[in-house]
Amino acid sequence: MSLVSRARTVLTQPGELLPAVRGMLGAGRQATSVASPPRIRGKVRITNSGHLHIGRALTVDGMPLPTKIEVRPGAELRIGTGCFVNYGVDIVAGSAITLGDSVLIGPLVSIVDDDMHQIEPSRERRVAPITIADDVWLGRGVIVLPGASIGEHSVIAAGSVVRGEIPARVVAAGSPARVLRELDIPDGWRRI
Ligand SMILES: CC(C)(COP(=O)(O)OP(=O)(O)OC[C@H]1O[C@@H](n2cnc3c(N)ncnc32)[C@H](O)[C@@H]1OP(=O)(O)O)[C@@H](O)C(=O)NCCC(=O)NCCS
Repeated sequence: MSLVSRARTVLTQPGELLPAVRGMLGAGRQATSVASPPRIRGKVRITNSGHLHIGRALTVDGMPLPTKIEVRPGAELRIGTGCFVNYGVDIVAGSAITLGDSVLIGPLVSIVDDDMHQIEPSRERRVAPITIADDVWLGRGVIVLPGASIGEHSVIAAGSVVRGEIPARVVAAGSPARVLRELDIPDGWRRI
């Protein structure tokens, strides 16, 4: 959505005023770059000590449960155009997280690219980039582990744990998530 059409929406729908202002003053100010001020509803905590790039028309919900987006020092989070982040979501970039365009993130999803703790003394803790391509839908309660990548248009079923690579245009489910079936989706189609 362009700045002009966003301003028009804000003026014609009073309920849009607060989310738009919060996006401009809060998230917009935290970001390293922002294509248009995100729309923020409820409790959303965004901290950026690295590089946070926000694409156009991002919506983030923080009600009834708060959402946290954190970019640690030296890390990068890129969010494409038209993404939606539902409530209770945890996104923490300790290395690099890339969300493509039109990514739909369900409630209570976790996308964290840093294990935070070592498993045993002989191994470094795992910190590895996560990539989520255009038009991916993460169902409720999905956990995306460090190093995971999900191809465009794919759907991850509610409650799944994603590690490794999930190809484009599939439904995947379970822990770890496995491909259930392929999806017939033409180029350019967007999920609503
Ligand atoms: C994955 C989903 C989209 C259904 O896709 P579908 O292609 O219609 O799948 P089906 O319901 O036909 O199920 C296909 C198989 O996947 C399994 N499956 C479906 N959802 C699953 C899940 N969340 N976890 C594990 N397995 C699941 C089914 O049990 C079935 O297995 P079977 O073939 O052995 O019987 C749906 O189950 C889902 O998880 N939706 C997310 C809803 C959500 O989180 N909404 C919140 C708002 S964003």
